[in-house]
Amino acid sequence: MAGMNNINERYFILTYGCQMNVFDSEVISGHLEGMGFMPAENEEEADVLVINTCAVRKKAEDKVLSKLGKLKFLKEQKSTMTIVLWGCMAQQENIAKRVRERYGFIDLVGGTHSLGRFPELLEKARVSRRVVVDIDTVGEREDLPIRRGHSFKAWIPISYGCNNYCTYCIVPHVRGPEKSRPPQSIIDEVKALAANGYKEITLLGQNVNSYGKDLKEEVDFADLLKSLDSLDGLVHIRYMTSHPRDFNEKVIRTIQEGEKICEHFHLPIQSGSDKVLKLMNRGYTREYYLELIHNIKGIMDNFSITSDFIVGFPGEEEKDFEDTIDLMKEVEFDAAYTFIYSPREGTEALKMDGQIEPDVKKKRILTLNQIQGNISLEKNRQLLGTKQEVLVEGRSKTNPEKYTGRTRTNKIVHFFSNENLLGMLVNVKIIEAKSWTLTGEYK
Ligand code: SAH
Ligand code: SF4
Ligand code: F3S
Repeated sequence: MAGMNNINERYFILTYGCQMNVFDSEVISGHLEGMGFMPAENEEEADVLVINTCAVRKKAEDKVLSKLGKLKFLKEQKSTMTIVLWGCMAQQENIAKRVRERYGFIDLVGGTHSLGRFPELLEKARVSRRVVVDIDTVGEREDLPIRRGHSFKAWIPISYGCNNYCTYCIVPHVRGPEKSRPPQSIIDEVKALAANGYKEITLLGQNVNSYGKDLKEEVDFADLLKSLDSLDGLVHIRYMTSHPRDFNEKVIRTIQEGEKICEHFHLPIQSGSDKVLKLMNRGYTREYYLELIHNIKGIMDNFSITSDFIVGFPGEEEKDFEDTIDLMKEVEFDAAYTFIYSPREGTEALKMDGQIEPDVKKKRILTLNQIQGNISLEKNRQLLGTKQEVLVEGRSKTNPEKYTGRTRTNKIVHFFSNENLLGMLVNVKIIEAKSWTLTGEYK
């Protein structure tokens, strides 16, 4: 087998960004273990160190750049180490250029499309004295090896890339156009996981609701959900991320009728102002979004709604921001992820008029966070005293009796037990509620 000479050598992967990156890192682990590498305990111990990067906001890139500063020092101590810069940030032309000019200690730069070529690229980089760069925009992603991070929950991409071109977003630029996986290969994969004891799957895509539109077969996201729901063994089916524009009644009904599909709706609105939504190219209006929420409330009983917001988008005036506040209060989200608009190289919004001052952006995000914090707390308090079913997902590193689980509605619950409960479905009574987490009692 190729690369068995790598035996006794170790790898470590640092993963930034979203779940799609977490999944890609599992594929990279799969490649590395296939080549004979074993996992290392930490960065220092690694012979191959992979940094799987994110480019969605400047902050994400800054984290990687500051990490690189430290790794330069590490590589000086251990010159045999191979350092790999991978993923969304690495996919950008200007990064490869910067690496050549300033980060000479990096051995390999690989983009999101190069995943299938990882082994040969790494072999090449390990013998080459110069940095190896592969940021081609084509590549096969089916049937790659994988080393999953968990034994009871799994990430399953259903589509790669994105066609939406929201004007602020780098993702379509670094992940390419949307490409759906054939339904049968998704179903077969999930079936095999369920047979191996997996309890929860999370379907991944930048816009899961447009799943299937690029396929020859007549299949949409609701059809896929329905087929997966009928498989034996699983208990939770989750998905992310859904785009409000493509979230139709058929999907809501499928979730309502489904047994395993979790009642959690993550519907990123970004802004409550029609003017800003248009500038963002989101393809829906405030009224459309409110109608969608109204539909969900009409069809579902027990469910949660969460969202993403961007403040300080170019042209966002005080009255636009007030529309956002107003919408946030009207919908009463269970939780919201709020972001300060971050200008990205190559996107349309970068060139727009009316860029907002940093201190205004900061003030706005604090206001939103405060309002949402109160709403979340209020919603979580309503659960006090109730029994909730949670899937036990993790235990604290410092205290093995402290567990973390998640409800079907995606609420995080901490509780204590001296039994071995990892990967099990248990009932807990909610005894404490905060904005972001709940504390439960397990007996
Ligand atoms: N495909 C998903 C997730 C995209 S990234 C979706 O469309 O929902 C996750 C979130 O990051 C987005 O919903 C958006 O709120 C935020 N985001 C993306 N680009 C951004 C930028 N340039 N500045 C600030 N936030 C951004
Ligand atoms: Fe980015 Fe918009 Fe695509 Fe989401 S839908 S990945 S925000 S372009
Ligand atoms: Fe970041 Fe790439 Fe995900 S830019 S958010 S890691 S798709």
